[in-house]
Amino acid sequence: MLDFKFISPTQFVFGRNAEEALVSESSKLGGKILLHYGGGSIKKSGLYDRVKSYLAEAGADFVELGGVKPNPSLFMVRQAIDLCRTEGVTGILAVGGGSVIDSAKAIAIGVPFQGDVWDFYTGKADAQEALPVGIILTIPAAGSEGSNGSVITDEETRSKFAYGSDIIRPVFSLMNPELTYTLSAYQTGCGVVDMISHVMERYFTNTENVDLTDRLGEAVMRSVIDIAPRVFANPEDYEARAELMWASTIAHTDIVGLGRNDNWASHQIEHELSAQYDVAHGAGLSVVFPAWMTHVRKENLPRFVQFATRVWNIDYIAGREDEVALEGIRRHKAFYESIGMPTSLSALGVTDNRYDIMAEKAMRDGPFGEIKALNKEDVVAIYTLAES
Ligand code: NZQ
Ligand code: ZN
Repeated sequence: MLDFKFISPTQFVFGRNAEEALVSESSKLGGKILLHYGGGSIKKSGLYDRVKSYLAEAGADFVELGGVKPNPSLFMVRQAIDLCRTEGVTGILAVGGGSVIDSAKAIAIGVPFQGDVWDFYTGKADAQEALPVGIILTIPAAGSEGSNGSVITDEETRSKFAYGSDIIRPVFSLMNPELTYTLSAYQTGCGVVDMISHVMERYFTNTENVDLTDRLGEAVMRSVIDIAPRVFANPEDYEARAELMWASTIAHTDIVGLGRNDNWASHQIEHELSAQYDVAHGAGLSVVFPAWMTHVRKENLPRFVQFATRVWNIDYIAGREDEVALEGIRRHKAFYESIGMPTSLSALGVTDNRYDIMAEKAMRDGPFGEIKALNKEDVVAIYTLAES
């Protein structure tokens, strides 16, 4: 096990009516709040009106900016930073999913910073200060409600970059599983893939003697695989929605990744897809992850055999380890298909070949990934494997 430091300062309030805790929690955002939200789902569900009434009850002063799109844009982040400076905003309330939360986190570090907020995402600056960010979560997927990450897209250059710092972990996250009843089957599926992927990016490591975190990760993956079908059968199954919502957080606070080198290769390859084609992150991962596994499995076959036997309950057969590993990948892919997710670029609607451009962009900091450090040829090979 490697040495590590870990902090998760977020106050999680979980359960029916959790969003009502905004009345007491909103003071953590200071005297003037930016209410930040997406494209309209919260207005349709009535949550928007309730949030405004909780803020009124708390006596909180606020301005609002809605319209955050999936794969949130740098353009809107910059616009919001200007608004916050003009209005003297002291904290941000994000009501939505990963896109709204990541936009809020970017604004939070951009407002007190003298330079351009994009410098954080291109590795030119590290945030020293941030406005506090509070969350009302409406989709379990990205895990941004408990993570130290934010992912923003510069639409002009088609670049989707991540920034990570403990300074942007939310001060509170209010999580009511009932708020997720209105999710479409597709968005629910995207969330399922993303949360499993967050465990897998940590699980596929070359670090040895990490048994506890391996088994924590396996528990999260198994639970999600067992429970997800219930949500598709009955979108208002409270207990199943609750399990998925908490799984999304546990998968990405980093608790299942401590003491090991993590991977993130599939995420990097997916982010290039999202940047080029504006596909949903979870749908992109559903295509990329099985292809990545197939491509790199022989670099650490025991890991892939462990995944197959412990997560997919496949029998170990001495001398036929590669078959066991491939069967694990096949079952994993079949699971994604069973919940309506695409597992090929063609099913994702990507039919033109921009593999070279995407691979080139993915290589911007050199070879990446833990099981195997991928070079440009590997990345092109993975996109090619994912074709059909
Ligand atoms: O915009 P609205 O109208 O709210 O609709 C959203 C959006 O269209 C809809 N939605 C959300 N809650 C709903 C709902 N529709 C009905 N009922 C509800 N209760 O769902 C759509 C997708 O929302 P989005 O926030 O984009 O989804 P998600 O949470 O999957 O976030 C994806 C973003 O997070 C990034 C991804 O790259 C992507 O940009 N990630 C962030 C991470 C982090 N910060 O730690 C880690 C992840 O790996 C990921 O990269
Ligand atoms: Zn993700």
